[in-house]
Amino acid sequence: MNVPLLDVPAQNAPLRDELLQVFESVLDSGYFILGPEVEAFEKEAAEYLGVPHTIGVSSGTDALIVALLAAGVGPGDEVICPSFTFFATAGSVVRVGATPVFADSLEDSFNIDLESVKSRITSKTKAIIPVHLFGRSCEIAGVMEFADEHDLVVIEDTAQSLSAGVDSRKCGTFGHFGTYSFFPSKNLGGYGDSGLVSCLDDDLAEKVRQLRNHGMHPKYYHAMVGGNFRIDALQAALLRKKLPHLDSYGEARAENAGYYLEEFAELDSEQVTLPLPGTSEEGVIWNQFTLKVHGRRDELKAHLLESQVGCEVYYPVPLHQQECFSHLQAGALPVAEKLASEALSIPVFGELGEERRERVVEVVKSFFKS
Ligand SMILES: Cc1ncc(COP(=O)(O)O)c(C=O)c1O
Repeated sequence: MNVPLLDVPAQNAPLRDELLQVFESVLDSGYFILGPEVEAFEKEAAEYLGVPHTIGVSSGTDALIVALLAAGVGPGDEVICPSFTFFATAGSVVRVGATPVFADSLEDSFNIDLESVKSRITSKTKAIIPVHLFGRSCEIAGVMEFADEHDLVVIEDTAQSLSAGVDSRKCGTFGHFGTYSFFPSKNLGGYGDSGLVSCLDDDLAEKVRQLRNHGMHPKYYHAMVGGNFRIDALQAALLRKKLPHLDSYGEARAENAGYYLEEFAELDSEQVTLPLPGTSEEGVIWNQFTLKVHGRRDELKAHLLESQVGCEVYYPVPLHQQECFSHLQAGALPVAEKLASEALSIPVFGELGEERRERVVEVVKSFFKS
């Protein structure tokens, strides 16, 4: 049996007819750039998140860039972010001319270590980008308290954690900005690239809205330089059909994760550490189910792939060790480095089904018994 890491067609299959109708209706409308579908999607996404404003953009990366621009982050500024994350978190900082300053992560949650953030602050620090990695909230209350004390902007990179939350408040809605991705592997997978910015403040939201369209306001007048960061009307229209299913996708992921946690409880903790189960106050969305394999990670990966079970190392090289950031001389970040050598994500997508997840368990257990 072949078990992929992700099965995008399986999620779309039940919606196929509806999606084709949406495609036809957008095609016939001729309205492809911004317009009513984008406005409707933004309204529905804002209601879902419980925020006054969301702005649809071209990707999760562009969501970060446009939020940084709206926050006035630029040359000479430092932005603290985790090293153990996807590249876009720090890449976007460089794209606006600022400097990423890497903080270490926590071993149990994979998320940014607040104490490490505190040790990185300088007079140049302008913002923090905490990431809610793998579907789990970082210590956002602590980050907000520290940021308030030091007058820093907080941009929550929520690309992997749309619909996760803390105390029934959704990730991405604590900071000045939340940024989200609809890359097909994300919790709300789109049909190409697209993303979203959420914002609590009216003026900042208006700034993001203008920056997404070349900083233009009114038409052909530019008080600021933005870019083309617009979401396509077609993406927005298709995502509107999927948004009502987002919570049920999360529930299916949680069921798979619960099954793994139970099945893998018997594994030797000296050889492998399971992800934290999450608490009732913390709505974990299980964008990834990530094992920490002590010593034999690459062997387990090879074993899974040989057995036709998809898996992936998110992320093999922490950002402070990437060639393009070698000039930043971040020093050692021991936890980020350890996580990069131990992390292995296995299939947890909602459409996995009983047979396929049983197969994953069988293959993983057979490795540790050998
Ligand atoms: C943590 C994180 N930030 C940002 C992004 C960028 O999102 P996108 O691929 O939509 O540009 C991703 C996507 O993989 C991500 O995982």
